[in-house]
Amino acid sequence: MASSTSEQKKPVVHVEFTKGFNGFDKVILRQSRGISAEIYLYGAHVTSWRNELGEELLFVSNKAMFKPPRAIRGGIPLCFPQFSNFGSLEAHGFARNRVWIVDPEPPPLPTSSPNKASVDLLLKPSEDDLKIWSHSFEFRLRITLSPGGDLTLTSRIRNIDSKPFSFTFAYHTYFSVSDISEVRVEGLETLDYLDNMKNRERFTEQGDAVTFEGEIDKIYLSTPTKIAILDHERKRTFVLRKDGLPDAVVWNPWDKKAKAMADFGDDEYKHMLCVEAAAIEKPITLKPGEEWRGRQELSAVGSSYCSGQLDPRKVLMGG
Ligand code: BG6
Repeated sequence: MASSTSEQKKPVVHVEFTKGFNGFDKVILRQSRGISAEIYLYGAHVTSWRNELGEELLFVSNKAMFKPPRAIRGGIPLCFPQFSNFGSLEAHGFARNRVWIVDPEPPPLPTSSPNKASVDLLLKPSEDDLKIWSHSFEFRLRITLSPGGDLTLTSRIRNIDSKPFSFTFAYHTYFSVSDISEVRVEGLETLDYLDNMKNRERFTEQGDAVTFEGEIDKIYLSTPTKIAILDHERKRTFVLRKDGLPDAVVWNPWDKKAKAMADFGDDEYKHMLCVEAAAIEKPITLKPGEEWRGRQELSAVGSSYCSGQLDPRKVLMGG
């Protein structure tokens, strides 16, 4: 009794600025119990998200290199100003391999429920960035960890140029799963998708939940605002909610591609799945002075339910 009282009295340090691999600046967000998240200023990259038991919910490769210009393999890389690798811009854009700063002028926090475990980061293009993508912008990212452990990323991208610009975007989220062959994704069935493995040809998904038995690289279009990733073996369901992001990418490199990637272990594909809230099919266009907002909220709940029972409200309550 006495020890639990003294533990309760220990104040939680909600935001800590520290150093990570290779001396990179890192922010740790904390709530009570084991709930935490870690963010590298390199890429404004979330590299860890833990639940109340301290269990890691995101996948980061054992071979991830924390070394510019390579993006960190795993966690949540930000794809901006482009998803994929069209034209002269590097694959998935440059936001994921630039050093962000803590926002000196963050947007106001909602007064109703100010969340103490929150950080605001900012990216503005450097002179060199403007040579490869000639548009002035301010990219503000707010990352919040709720007392219950939900992780929310809100991006605000503002055009501060004198001409319009367009971009595509993704929160390239790597979920940690027990065994990819036991995982199913619900919410994407019957939707149209562009198959990245077939020159982005358009197909329609079958009526069943998406399951995995080989490489997958698809961009689902006009997806619902909630998608569930069910990990049967671990009895865990991730619920991804999104706003301003109509598309959803599902990616797993499987064995052959895994072996070809220098920063990814040969067998690691079994323990990860990317489901990425995105805006790809219809690029976002901003006129001078305009701002776009895109939000991704992640919850992880214990569950053992089967296909067809997707009702995120029930899932959340059941957790
Ligand atoms: C996915 C893409 O989002 O990211 C894949 O759909 C790509 O085509 C994958 O291979 C990984 O990209 P990168 O640049 O991080 O190796």
